[in-house]
Amino acid sequence: VRLQTSSEGLPDSASSDLTSMFMFKEVGVEGGVRLVMESTLSARDRVGVQDFLLLENYTSEAAFIENLRRRYKENLIYTYIGSVLVSVNPYKELEIYSKQHMERYRGVNFYEISPHIFALADNSYRAVRTERRDQCILISGESGAGKTEASKKILQYYTTMCPTRHNTHYIRERLLQSNPVLEAFGNAKTLRNDNSSRFGKYMDVQFDYKGAPIGGHIINYLLEKSRVVHQNHGERSFHIFYQLLESGDNSLLTRLGLQKTNPQHYHYLVKGNCPRVSSISDKHSWKIVTKAFTVIGFNEEEVEELLKVVASVLHLGNMQFGVDEFEETHVTTDTQLKYLAELLGVAGSALSEALTHKKLHILFVGEKTMISPLNLDQVLSARDALAKAIYGRTFTWLVQKINQSLAFQDEVYYTSKCSSVIGLLDIYGFEVFQQNSFEQFCINYCNEKLQQLFIELTLKSEQEEYEAEGIGWETVEYFNNKIICDLVEEKFRGIIAILDEECLRPGDASDITFLEKLEDTLGGHAHFVTHKLANGKTRKAVGREEFRLLHYAGEVNYNVTGFLDKNNDLLYRNLKEVMCQSGNQIVKQCFHPDELIDQRRPETAATQFKLSLAGLMDILILKEPSYMRCIKPNNGKQPGQFEEVLIRHQVKYLGLMENLRVRRAGFAYRRSFEAFLQRYKPLCPDTWPNWRGQLLDGVSTLVKHLNYKPEEYRLGRTKIFIRFPKTLFLTEDALEIRKKTIAITLQKCWRGYRERAKYQRIRHAVIMIQSWWRGVKGRRRARHRRQAADTIRMFIKGFILRNEPRCPGNEYFLDHVRFSYLMTIKRNLPKSVLDKAWPRPPPSLTEVETHTHTNSHRNTHTHTHTHSLEQKVVASDMFKGQKDNYPQSVPRLFVGTRLGNNEEINLKVLQTLGSDNKYGVAVTKYDRHGYRARPRQLLLTASTAVLVQESKVKQRIDYTSLLGVSVSCHSDGFFVLHLPPATSKQKGDLVLQCDHVIETVTKLAIMAEKIHNINISQDSIKFALARGKEGVIDFTPGAELRVIKTKNGHLAVMAPRISSSV
Ligand SMILES: Nc1ncnc2c1ncn2[C@@H]1O[C@H](COP(=O)(O)OP(=O)(O)O)[C@@H](O)[C@H]1O
Ligand SMILES: [Mg+2]
Repeated sequence: VRLQTSSEGLPDSASSDLTSMFMFKEVGVEGGVRLVMESTLSARDRVGVQDFLLLENYTSEAAFIENLRRRYKENLIYTYIGSVLVSVNPYKELEIYSKQHMERYRGVNFYEISPHIFALADNSYRAVRTERRDQCILISGESGAGKTEASKKILQYYTTMCPTRHNTHYIRERLLQSNPVLEAFGNAKTLRNDNSSRFGKYMDVQFDYKGAPIGGHIINYLLEKSRVVHQNHGERSFHIFYQLLESGDNSLLTRLGLQKTNPQHYHYLVKGNCPRVSSISDKHSWKIVTKAFTVIGFNEEEVEELLKVVASVLHLGNMQFGVDEFEETHVTTDTQLKYLAELLGVAGSALSEALTHKKLHILFVGEKTMISPLNLDQVLSARDALAKAIYGRTFTWLVQKINQSLAFQDEVYYTSKCSSVIGLLDIYGFEVFQQNSFEQFCINYCNEKLQQLFIELTLKSEQEEYEAEGIGWETVEYFNNKIICDLVEEKFRGIIAILDEECLRPGDASDITFLEKLEDTLGGHAHFVTHKLANGKTRKAVGREEFRLLHYAGEVNYNVTGFLDKNNDLLYRNLKEVMCQSGNQIVKQCFHPDELIDQRRPETAATQFKLSLAGLMDILILKEPSYMRCIKPNNGKQPGQFEEVLIRHQVKYLGLMENLRVRRAGFAYRRSFEAFLQRYKPLCPDTWPNWRGQLLDGVSTLVKHLNYKPEEYRLGRTKIFIRFPKTLFLTEDALEIRKKTIAITLQKCWRGYRERAKYQRIRHAVIMIQSWWRGVKGRRRARHRRQAADTIRMFIKGFILRNEPRCPGNEYFLDHVRFSYLMTIKRNLPKSVLDKAWPRPPPSLTEVETHTHTNSHRNTHTHTHTHSLEQKVVASDMFKGQKDNYPQSVPRLFVGTRLGNNEEINLKVLQTLGSDNKYGVAVTKYDRHGYRARPRQLLLTASTAVLVQESKVKQRIDYTSLLGVSVSCHSDGFFVLHLPPATSKQKGDLVLQCDHVIETVTKLAIMAEKIHNINISQDSIKFALARGKEGVIDFTPGAELRVIKTKNGHLAVMAPRISSSV
């Protein structure tokens, strides 16, 4: 918050303290920072001074009025005296009541922006919200000064700016819409005001703890009922009559028996001779009222019943009576009677009887009733009394009905002190007419009381407070109107007491005897004069039937005519009886049969009024008041006319000058030490969070810390007084900033606490889980260890007892030994038959060992195995120690065939051979001449050996024709099939070479049964060529296998020596 001083535009004379009151500051308001500085106020806003406290010559009435005039000329109708708002009726619409204007004033301190009724409204509202203290706004001023308008503006402010509770949003509308209805029934055009309130209204608006309006309650005060039957010239009756006649739709009017004619048709409306007023649109108002009815919650029937009552009043006014030859009065207008009977739901004959006769209770002859006829005058007054009673009571019913609709539904909520109220008092203003009667007497008495309250609460109490608190103070003189209040209301001696006495007194009391009694009792009172008591000049001004009261607001002559009747406010018993029978729901509720039973005399009108005002004062005194003083600038309802005499008079009687003087000398703000300390203690480290010592010391410590200057404040006995609002505002601003830090601290602590608690919870949970898991794991490990120890123990025990017969002690060990031995065997099974290795058994298994060993051998010897082994035996017989590469072949088993049937052997060959094929192997055939090597397949069938070149069968050799087979003793793979030379087809022996020579030759020998025909040559093999010739293969040992044709035509084979001794 930045504070900036600007004295621009202020009168030079304004003291520096007061100047600083107009320092303005940036205020954060929803959605942004708004710069509200004195310099931003338009020049127009700065006309004159905004607060009379700033007036240099504050004791001068002329300066006061001049300031009012300068501002009024610029349409600046609002000015402050401290916290009191003074307003001058502009008599024209000003563009200062829009939503934007409302927003400007929300949450902003008084004095920060130009004076406005919204500032007043907001100030009270904030007090309700922040301090939860009930408030009231008292609006005073004479009739037509703008009180009712002001109260409406305030209500509008609340309904627009306050938040709403979701279930009470309708309350806003109802609060607003109650006004047009009440105004239609309770306001009328008078000479002073075209929309003059003819009843007093005190309205409570209830707010919940969040500041949302949640309900309302209205108390009404003394309606000017006489207006129903009579109006002064130039005045009207209540608006509703004219609105109904002007705008009610035809069918409605027909139902009510009314004609859409000039209101002049109705006797009760003709007295003032003023049916239409230019400033009033009855048509428009009717629309608003009918809409308002529905908002408030009237159903169609209720509205109809209500309008029936209104119509019945008009019909009553049009009733005429005649006098017959027996001097008896009777009804001459039968149609009116018929309508009345229908509208009020009563029997026509009963009504006409009740209107024209009086029922008397004669108690001493065993409670008899006697009927006596009334004369014409009595009949007319009975009729008027009935009309007034019906209308008056219906008005009260209306207020109750509105209260029902405004009532906050949630009783518990309301009573639990969660809500606060702002009371709005808009009561009839002080008024003076040419002829003033009982009503004016009551109205002015009421204003007298309110002035008294104002004095009590501002002037008197303020000064008394300074005295009580021992603050140095120079008393300001002011006129205390208590003397006038007493004059009116004092017991036994007051005007009301005397009036009541005259009303109750047996004998022929009249208005004149009342006047005489007044003269007798009150003669010599400074504020009471009559024609008789006055002298000279005054005597001329006071009529013979008048008494004059010197009110605080001026002199008023009251004509006593009608005082007694109006005070008695009597309605004949038989009329009441008829009304109790009414079929109209509203009338029925208004006239209760209990009234007939109750023999006590009801309170007189004046006493009732006095009591209700006393009740009002009790309500107001409990609340914190804000004041609005309305001033009427002229009597002509003209905009822009500032009639100085009139205004000076109002300034005087409203006590504004005294008000100003007291304020100037006084202090803007005071609070008990406790409250002050409670609110501002966060601003000083010594007082925060609690001050333990004396309150006074606490406050002075706080104030010192805040750097208050000595002239800015005083410490009383129980309260601190702060002279300038500025000081308080600065303190408030500091608090506002401090609140944020406090809030942050609180948030910090709370969040810390919350997070710590959460952390602790999680930590606890984690530890829990960990301990469980550790438990599980530990137990598991312990179990394992135990098992391991058991195992080891058993093992050792078993080891010790290993040689004992099987018993529980060595069982485990033996099993283990067996198991591991078997596993070792499994892993180390001999790879070949020749492999003699066999794991050595532990001693306990020696016996088993032989079994397993044999079994192992047996198991290895499957059928093919056996077959193959048989062949191996043959091979061994033939080659062992004979051929170099034999030992290599020993460990390898002979296979069934070296050529897979499908892939390697051609299909065609297979077809020719059929399934006869037993063994196939790839060989190399060497030509007999030249020794060229050619790849061939050698297939052995059951009876023949077949040489195959791909798909061709090259040669078949019957085993029978095979003479023998030769191989070398070297490691080569050569073998020669010797064939008989005789056969012409044979071209000689076959020279072949094969990688599996041992296997192939063995198989061939077995199949061809030529085991004994195998010869193993040492160095060369001779083989037969065609036609008896002979070929030779020479074998020599060498480094590697080589096959070459030598020069002598031999085939030389160099075979490596294999030095193995398998
Ligand atoms: N703030 C205002 N702005 C415009 N016109 C106003 C204002 N206050 C009062 N008036 C005019 O003055 C008339 C009388 O005001 P009203 O509030 O009825 O007076 P009161 O209730 O004091 O008798 C209103 O009908 C309206 O025309
Ligand atoms: Mg009013």
